[in-house]
Amino acid sequence: MWVREFRQQEIRFDVNPRFRDWEPMYRVSRAALARLLAASEPELDALFEETRPIQAALRAEAGPLPSAGALIQAPLLYIAVRRLRPQWVIETGISSGYSARLILEALARNGSGRLDSIGIDVFALAASTGGVAPELAGRRVGWLVPERLHAFWTLHLGRSEEVLPKLAGGDPVDVFLHDSLHQYPTMLAEYEWAFSQFATGGWLFSHDVHANRAWPDFLSRHSVAGDEEMDHDLGAVRVPAHP
Ligand SMILES: C[S@@+](CC[C@H](N)C(=O)[O-])C[C@H]1O[C@@H](n2cnc3c(N)ncnc32)[C@H](O)[C@@H]1O
Repeated sequence: MWVREFRQQEIRFDVNPRFRDWEPMYRVSRAALARLLAASEPELDALFEETRPIQAALRAEAGPLPSAGALIQAPLLYIAVRRLRPQWVIETGISSGYSARLILEALARNGSGRLDSIGIDVFALAASTGGVAPELAGRRVGWLVPERLHAFWTLHLGRSEEVLPKLAGGDPVDVFLHDSLHQYPTMLAEYEWAFSQFATGGWLFSHDVHANRAWPDFLSRHSVAGDEEMDHDLGAVRVPAHP
């Protein structure tokens, strides 16, 4: 699986128009985001404006480098985290750390909250077989997260199946993002874990909701309504409080 991913990771960030310019992606997602976050579109526009310097920095830092499976809709997560002001965010799946970077920029701007990122150490795995693109040699997963954001961040190297049980039962999880292995059992297991931690309600985001039936099956199993889909394949839903 990771060998396949690393082959795709030859594609440079800058080649993707949705990385070069975040505005079209934001415009097509704005109405759905407003419904999801119970915000007005002008409120969201103000949050989107905050992303401009971050985007300029990321173009300089990452533009010519392989995108390594980055969650290209990550700027939408920045807006969600700014609006929701979560205290605990968990994401599964990390490569460059593009999604982590945008979530952490938002937490830092909020001035509170923390992110736990869970992922396989794919760079080490690929390096052992010479599978790392030369431009990424020597980098670790999460290389897009700068030191100044580390205070808000914990990186867990391992499969979500192994790490998530260790995080259960602590503080309530406010936001959960699935972006690890887009296969039915993994997706459903992660959604179910998140649901079990949303005692006071929470926000579930998932990439690749069309990969299989895990997303609709999860929603109907728990009678959760009002899900939104942004920019083709980023699903999101507010899960109400439940016993
Ligand atoms: C699409 S990438 C994640 C990209 C990330 N959101 C970013 O923007 O950097 C998916 C990653 O999930 C990792 N992965 C695959 N199976 C996993 C599992 N069971 N648990 C955690 N991570 C997994 C892969 O190694 C891969 O690097």
